[in-house]
Amino acid sequence: MQGNGYDLIEEIRRLKQERNAVILAHNYQTEDIQEIADFVGDSLGLSRKAAETDADVIVFCGVHFMGETAKIVNPSKTVVLPDLEAGCSLSDSCPAEDLAKFLEAHREKDYFVVAYINCSAGVKALSDVICTSGNALKIVARIPEGRNILFVPDQNLGAWVMEKTGRMMDLWEGSCYVHIEFTRQSIEKIQAAHPSAKVVAHPECTQAVRLLADEVCSTERMVDYCRESPEKEFIVVTESGMLHRLRKEVPGKTFIAGPTETCSCNDCRYMKKNTLQKLRDCLRDLSPEIRMDEGLRARAEVPIRRMLDWS
Ligand code: 13P
Ligand code: SF4
Repeated sequence: MQGNGYDLIEEIRRLKQERNAVILAHNYQTEDIQEIADFVGDSLGLSRKAAETDADVIVFCGVHFMGETAKIVNPSKTVVLPDLEAGCSLSDSCPAEDLAKFLEAHREKDYFVVAYINCSAGVKALSDVICTSGNALKIVARIPEGRNILFVPDQNLGAWVMEKTGRMMDLWEGSCYVHIEFTRQSIEKIQAAHPSAKVVAHPECTQAVRLLADEVCSTERMVDYCRESPEKEFIVVTESGMLHRLRKEVPGKTFIAGPTETCSCNDCRYMKKNTLQKLRDCLRDLSPEIRMDEGLRARAEVPIRRMLDWS
């Protein structure tokens, strides 16, 4: 490593130019990574950027399924991730082999499979359309009436979509370990300490928590909601990286991290695997790289393109 953080940032900028690379970062990345990224956003914004970029190299500062999505829509580009171990408990809760077995065992249902983007390429390849938290309501509303819908892998997001759209769906029983740690009690406690604060929560939270929220939305929508609201104080019930973007882009307002039973804020251990050093290393070495079988990639691209068309 170089002598100080400044050298590291300079080196990343130089390598980025040499490689004709773009750095995409999710809202849950650490502040230093968000600051050096070319684009910071939610899963929907990031997949759009990945599909549009003319860079030769995409450095994806997020988790594995996000890098995979970028590769699926950009087969000829080099997609690198600072840390290949950056996984996702939600994605892990729905292995592709289990989904394939389930679909085979329920062939009579002829499911229309909606997969939340937090899933592997294998699961995407078995799905009819992908959604993110930012477009799930719109996507599900477009599915022809009368079709049986299977929503994978997040039961909480799926339940929220059912509540909002009135469409019945069968739900895969997966969840995000970060968002289910927020409880009704932990949020009520912080509300009692900040009675005038509005509560914004991610739809991966449980229903008990969502019911306490003034707004349930994707991480990107949280920025607009807090900016447009006349209120000055917000309790933000999602991963703690979100606070940096909110504080930066909505100055003059107060953002309080949603606490869990045991912690005053909540980090995703996978998102936080990425560091500036690893970002520099992956740009320098063009490794670890996301690679994928072409047949799988082509099958997984179909429902992603459908999502991009439908939203
Ligand atoms: P967003 O698409 O709302 O940013 O959510 C991504 C995610 O991983 C939530 O846990
Ligand atoms: Fe996965 Fe949850 Fe981390 Fe998002 S916050 S990457 S859903 S484990």
